[in-house]
Amino acid sequence: MADPRSQIQKKYAPKNRYANFGPSLKSIRIQGFRGVTDLEMDFPFPITAISGLNGAGKSTVGQLCLGAYRKPSTVTGIKRFYVRDFFPASAADPNPFGPNSSVIFEYNTTDVDNPQTLTVTRAAKEWSGYKRQPERSCYYIGFTIYIPKVEQRDLSMYRAAEIQLGAKRPIPDDVKDRVGRILGQQYQGLHFQGITHGPRQGELCIASRFGAQYSENNMGFGEGRTLYLVDLLENSPEQSLFVIEEPETSLHENAQFELGKYILDVCNRRHHQIVLTTHSSTLLNSLPADARVMLLRDAAGVAAFPQMSAARARSILSGGQHRDLCVLVEDDFAKLLLTEMIRTVDPVLLKCIDVHGIGDTKAVRSGALFMQRLKRPYAAVRDPDIGPEPAIGLFSFPGTLPPEREVYGQPHVRQHLKAEFGIDVENVLAQHNVTDHHEFTKVLADDASAIPGYLSTCAIKAYLASIGVAAYKPLVQAIQGRLP
Ligand SMILES: Nc1ncnc2c1ncn2[C@@H]1O[C@H](COP(=O)(O)OP(=O)(O)OP(=O)(O)O)[C@@H](O)[C@H]1O
Ligand SMILES: [Mg+2]
Repeated sequence: MADPRSQIQKKYAPKNRYANFGPSLKSIRIQGFRGVTDLEMDFPFPITAISGLNGAGKSTVGQLCLGAYRKPSTVTGIKRFYVRDFFPASAADPNPFGPNSSVIFEYNTTDVDNPQTLTVTRAAKEWSGYKRQPERSCYYIGFTIYIPKVEQRDLSMYRAAEIQLGAKRPIPDDVKDRVGRILGQQYQGLHFQGITHGPRQGELCIASRFGAQYSENNMGFGEGRTLYLVDLLENSPEQSLFVIEEPETSLHENAQFELGKYILDVCNRRHHQIVLTTHSSTLLNSLPADARVMLLRDAAGVAAFPQMSAARARSILSGGQHRDLCVLVEDDFAKLLLTEMIRTVDPVLLKCIDVHGIGDTKAVRSGALFMQRLKRPYAAVRDPDIGPEPAIGLFSFPGTLPPEREVYGQPHVRQHLKAEFGIDVENVLAQHNVTDHHEFTKVLADDASAIPGYLSTCAIKAYLASIGVAAYKPLVQAIQGRLP
């Protein structure tokens, strides 16, 4: 089965975006809400997982997104959201926003170069700017989407003896299987059962598993919450906007990962835009880098770091406590290459730095800005295609291509790998039809029956010998120059 990530990426490419996802949010700019003085966030992917410490401003962003749309006149059973729904002001809360607070929404349109922009502002004592908004069904999946009935004490509990069963609402088999896949358990049956008590009505989910039947009243919390979440995502109109608060709540670790896969899958099938808040590195790891953004709150306000996650930031910072300088690169191959360059020029420097593979070129830049904001010593090195940006301590590897292509493409390296491992690089890559350079080392090492790290180190040493120290000494010196 094709990977939903790459399918979504294609569907969400700017030229295809509107046709597939309608007037989804392209960006949001928030000024003056809950200490968020001026924050701009882009949505380069239809799923956005916002991480950050408690109180960073994650829910604030999600809740404001919901105020971006009018309710479609054809859809019943939902309401539209307004800014006032989430930012109540009172004697206890005099200033969740100020007189000049505003939200600027940017929407994707049929014309890639002309997104629609609308501003919701505080005019006099009311919020204005809602009128010309596009239509879209919006759902807020907060923490109360599913409260166990035993805690709610609703009519199915305190009037349990007197309720009558009404109509059933079947849950299709594919939805049942999806819920089962997330939770790692399969159901024999799953449906909603209408219940009535006098004029009052309700609905209870009924499950059967291992030959036993039970309702929500005896269901696990994670089970009930997942079921309600999946039911809404599957039964809402296509191209809806979902804002989901910490969907990992009460799920075991593997279920969190499976939930991330499901969110990709449903987004690919039903073209929803999904903005979620999370503290789960497992959930974040199930999503592509373009789906991640981290918020940081400090004295200067709240800032967004695209591609980053709170877990990654923590691991960079904890490494930095032991070494003088944190060096950010794209991935493991870049880390190995940089380490060998430094070993040749200034081996002592290796003892003072911590090198982190952080994702891709955008993540390296974002990580550099994050470290700069924290005033921590850092240097960053990205692949040569975009070039350096010394003003923010961002440098480039030598050459013009991604490091794997530079290294494995060198005639001298190819001769060396032939002599050492008996492999013909060009043939092996062609035979396996490998076009993604991130796969080169694994495929070559497999073919040579070698350990990948050993093969890539041999290749890198041969490459460095061939290009000569003058080609990379300036990069090592630039990193030396960043030492505190
Ligand atoms: N009037 C205010 N002025 C300045 N800052 C405020 C104000 N009201 C709330 N805040 C800040 O907003 C934070 C709450 O924001 P939000 O709910 O978006 O955080 P969050 O990232 O979702 O946190 P959590 O992970 O705990 O859910 C508070 O912790 C506080 O720092
Ligand atoms: Mg929150």
